[in-house]
Amino acid sequence: MYKSKIAGIGKYVPSQVVTNKDLEKLMDTNDEWIQERTGIKERRYAHRTQETTATMGVEAAKIAIERAGITAQDIDFIVFATLSPDYYFPGCGVLVQRALEMKEIGALDIRNQCSGFVYALSVADQFIKTGMYQNILVIGSEKHSFGLDFTTRGRNVSVIFGDGAGAVVLQRSNNNISEILSTHLHSNGNDAETLAMYNPGTHANYWKKDLADFNEATLGDMFMSHTMIDNAQNFPFMDGPAVFKKAVVKMPEVIMEALQANNYTTQDIDMLISHQANLRIIQFIQHTLKLNDDKVYNNIQQYGNTTAASVPIALCEAWEKGKIKEGDLVCLTVFGSGFTWASALLKW
Ligand code: COA
Repeated sequence: MYKSKIAGIGKYVPSQVVTNKDLEKLMDTNDEWIQERTGIKERRYAHRTQETTATMGVEAAKIAIERAGITAQDIDFIVFATLSPDYYFPGCGVLVQRALEMKEIGALDIRNQCSGFVYALSVADQFIKTGMYQNILVIGSEKHSFGLDFTTRGRNVSVIFGDGAGAVVLQRSNNNISEILSTHLHSNGNDAETLAMYNPGTHANYWKKDLADFNEATLGDMFMSHTMIDNAQNFPFMDGPAVFKKAVVKMPEVIMEALQANNYTTQDIDMLISHQANLRIIQFIQHTLKLNDDKVYNNIQQYGNTTAASVPIALCEAWEKGKIKEGDLVCLTVFGSGFTWASALLKW
């Protein structure tokens, strides 16, 4: 069995900064509410026509590939995680393959929302462990700004999310220092509708006939209907408090699972990179695990929640700032729609 390591990492965030004050002009919200409940001060929004989920992923990937000391031609496989793909189909992976003029390699898209990057990393890790591939490009990227409700109706969701991308080159490890030690993936579909974008979809109200939003009048016989758009049912739905309550239980749980699997304790962690969902959630986890401030890196204040991109962007930034060094024990943890949650423990 081979081992894999992160050989290169990159991030890309659009240049347009959107502050909480900017959002006040669009909806009934305020800087104080957003900062107090989420920790977010500002986020980035992609250029409407010049940047897409795939192009941002490409920019992050170029940096990761260069830092790995290889070329795009050396990549054997692409795993792309996003909930905001350029097209409903095909996935973003093939757009990266095209943009970087790669060989005709496999391209897999992962739809695990905020847990997407760790799921993607885990898939890539298995391919390297078995010896099938040597260099895998793993990307998490989101262009949320294209699909949010910027009226007061959507304020509980729209103030939270931001755009950006992160990427790593996962590579067969030839040293005894750097490796992915283990990954741990979980799901529980009982809460599938608690954080979801129902439309467009093929559900035809099959799963949730009792939801107020779903009644015969809005039920079309099509994937997407005019009524759905008129009723703003094409935007994400989130029961924020329900998500909060589950996230603060499941993330510490899956971190402990990773530590125990490798005979470590919380005090062995050099750096915890949590999904940047909400600063309060991360502070709760930090408190539960009794981790010092220098063992946790957060940047949700600047970028908001970038879903599949949040972990690789934070990991990249922490590394660029010299907060992660070779051999450090790094723990990644995520939680999101599904619900799904996961962790990865690695030696940097
Ligand atoms: N600005 C101002 N007021 C807002 C608002 C906004 N952007 N969004 C919601 N509110 C209002 C609500 O309408 C509600 O008003 P009411 O009391 O008059 O009904 C009030 O604020 C409280 O809403 P509630 O949803 O109970 O707030 P909260 O303290 O739970 O915070 C979240 C909301 C979304 C910040 C919080 O629940 C959260 O972060 N949950 C986890 C979300 C998450 O992590 N999602 C991504 C998962 S991967």
